[in-house]
Amino acid sequence: MSQLGIAIVGMGMGAAHLQHANAHEQAKVVAICDLDEKYVLDLQREHSVPFATTSYEDILARPDVQIVSIATPDWLHHEMTVAALRVGKHVLVEKPMALNVAECEDMVNEARRTGLKLMVGHICRFYPFFEQVKAWAEDGTLGTPYYVETSYLHNYETIPGVGGWRYDPEKRHPFVGGACHAVDLARWLVGDAVEVSAYGNHFNLPVQKWEDHIIANVKFAGGAIGRIMNSSGCPRPYDIECELWGTNGVIRGDNTTDEALLSLRQTNLHRWMRYPKEPMSKAIGNEFAHFVDCILNDTTPLIDGVDGAKTIATCWAVIESLANGGPVRVRNDF
Ligand SMILES: NC(=O)c1ccc[n+]([C@@H]2O[C@H](COP(=O)([O-])OP(=O)(O)OC[C@H]3O[C@@H](n4cnc5c(N)ncnc54)[C@H](O)[C@@H]3O)[C@@H](O)[C@H]2O)c1
Repeated sequence: MSQLGIAIVGMGMGAAHLQHANAHEQAKVVAICDLDEKYVLDLQREHSVPFATTSYEDILARPDVQIVSIATPDWLHHEMTVAALRVGKHVLVEKPMALNVAECEDMVNEARRTGLKLMVGHICRFYPFFEQVKAWAEDGTLGTPYYVETSYLHNYETIPGVGGWRYDPEKRHPFVGGACHAVDLARWLVGDAVEVSAYGNHFNLPVQKWEDHIIANVKFAGGAIGRIMNSSGCPRPYDIECELWGTNGVIRGDNTTDEALLSLRQTNLHRWMRYPKEPMSKAIGNEFAHFVDCILNDTTPLIDGVDGAKTIATCWAVIESLANGGPVRVRNDF
């Protein structure tokens, strides 16, 4: 069978896609797109990509493109995804799936109508350590999961995005744009969130209109409870952290260090065991390879549009709780 053609749009994070997207032997990057002409042509030369353009329409018109990877700023995800699905392309869209629940619903409906594959690039599901936590949650190693903590901690003082979009309140809320990582990870490990209650404050990042430190207490459908934290002006290094408590054990780790802590009921409960972790370097390649497999085998992507929409709905329930106080129910019917 001939290879599926991949186009990558938005060459910030998309440049990282470009380095790893050829991970599946039955797919290959055939086109790249960015508004910055010199930059996209430089990348084309460096990576020997057959076609480069500054126009998204050029990408949609190409018959050699079957998969569009959308890595433009968040506010373009909805419009670009729907346009690609309408002309028959499968779409891998970066996180967050879109700015709000209505946009996500539209994207889910378009994917359903066309029968094309839509996946959201929640990269945490491809980090080896978080994959290990998920496996131990499912195979009984940790017993029944009943508590989860996840955090997305990232200082955005020097990361405005091209043109400053990350500081524009119309184009990004930190709990949608950033904490969606932590929300998706928690949902993946213990199931859908059904109710949230949140607090936030604002001590660190005046350029951002919204609270820069937010915690949400969460009830999940299966009875687990948890806490999700987001900090966007914090005086500490970036990481995504995860702690999962089951009836037989607790695992605590992150996506940047090479060691996690593990406790199991049958061992000495007075000491943590040190668990060496694999690096995260192959995650993007594995994400692309998984999406290509889903297309070739007609299977559902690990994070399909419905899953992506539930994560955004959870984020917006947190934002509503921040604004109004008190618990807010989470929408899960997509
Ligand atoms: N999965 C992850 O861990 C991860 C990490 C970083 C960013 N992201 C996501 O990737 C997306 C982009 O973030 P970023 O950090 O690369 O932003 P950025 O502002 O650094 O880069 C965005 C790029 O998109 C280009 N662009 C903007 N509008 C365009 C258009 N209409 N057509 C073509 N190109 C266009 C810009 O010229 C720029 O090069 C965001 O949605 C972000 O959430 C994900």
